[in-house]
Amino acid sequence: MKKMKNSNKTILITGVSKGIGNGLAKEFIRLGYNVIGTTRDKTSIKGLKTIYKLDINDNKSISDIKELLILNKIKIDILINNAGIGSDYYSELSLENNFEMRFRTHLFGTFYFTETILPLIKNSGKIINISSKLSSFNEIDKVDKTKLTSTKMAYIISKCSLNMYTKLLANRLKDENIEVLSIHPGWVKTSLSKTNEHAPLNIDESVMGIIKILKEKRPSGTFWDATNQLQLNW
Ligand SMILES: NC(=O)c1ccc[n+]([C@@H]2O[C@H](COP(=O)([O-])OP(=O)(O)OC[C@H]3O[C@@H](n4cnc5c(N)ncnc54)[C@H](OP(=O)(O)O)[C@@H]3O)[C@@H](O)[C@H]2O)c1
Repeated sequence: MKKMKNSNKTILITGVSKGIGNGLAKEFIRLGYNVIGTTRDKTSIKGLKTIYKLDINDNKSISDIKELLILNKIKIDILINNAGIGSDYYSELSLENNFEMRFRTHLFGTFYFTETILPLIKNSGKIINISSKLSSFNEIDKVDKTKLTSTKMAYIISKCSLNMYTKLLANRLKDENIEVLSIHPGWVKTSLSKTNEHAPLNIDESVMGIIKILKEKRPSGTFWDATNQLQLNW
């Protein structure tokens, strides 16, 4: 993708330690954006000037980030809520805790983080929630029912709730002209779940698809598929 002059644009991406978030951070650095990444253990990546420690399930680490952004007079043009856990993450936990972890990460954590830093997002900015096509009511009938484990269901329902947050937030932020989208990144070879090793897309392909959607203006409060640039039904 062509390098642009984006040095005046700031993008905050959660979960850049690996996978899609890591790929997005690297590509936005290459495109000249001022990239702020978050990791749970603060490991940095090459070219990333600002790295904040964030466990999206820990409210204190969320408020710390807000303070750091204010202290450093940073305003955000684009927020990408990417941090997430797959269907076999925390599999040693009980069914109840497993369900709760997915909701805490994909919904409560993402919701609280976004609401906390919302005043620091510029008018005409963008908020991207990395969701999953699996959470679309329209797509769910295509899923092999024999593979619907309880944690997979928890994953799907939590991302479905995240989609409703996308819609509600988009409606709330109409006057500020802040575009809020859910994006399905494709089925990508990452360490999200064990089965992802069989995924057809590599991280770069997914990243290119997400950035393509981001570069164009889309109606706020909509859901997009990064693999084909088409709008998804909720
Ligand atoms: N890969 C796919 O096929 C696919 C399909 C649909 C949607 N998605 C979504 O895409 C996003 C990225 O997934 P991925 O495939 O790149 O997975 P990944 O390689 O496992 O990366 C997930 C990232 O999220 C971070 N994270 C997890 N829990 C966190 C928490 N509590 N607080 C802060 N950061 C946390 C991880 O940090 P640590 O290194 O600390 O664990 C890691 O950086 C997720 O939201 C996922 O649901 C992926």
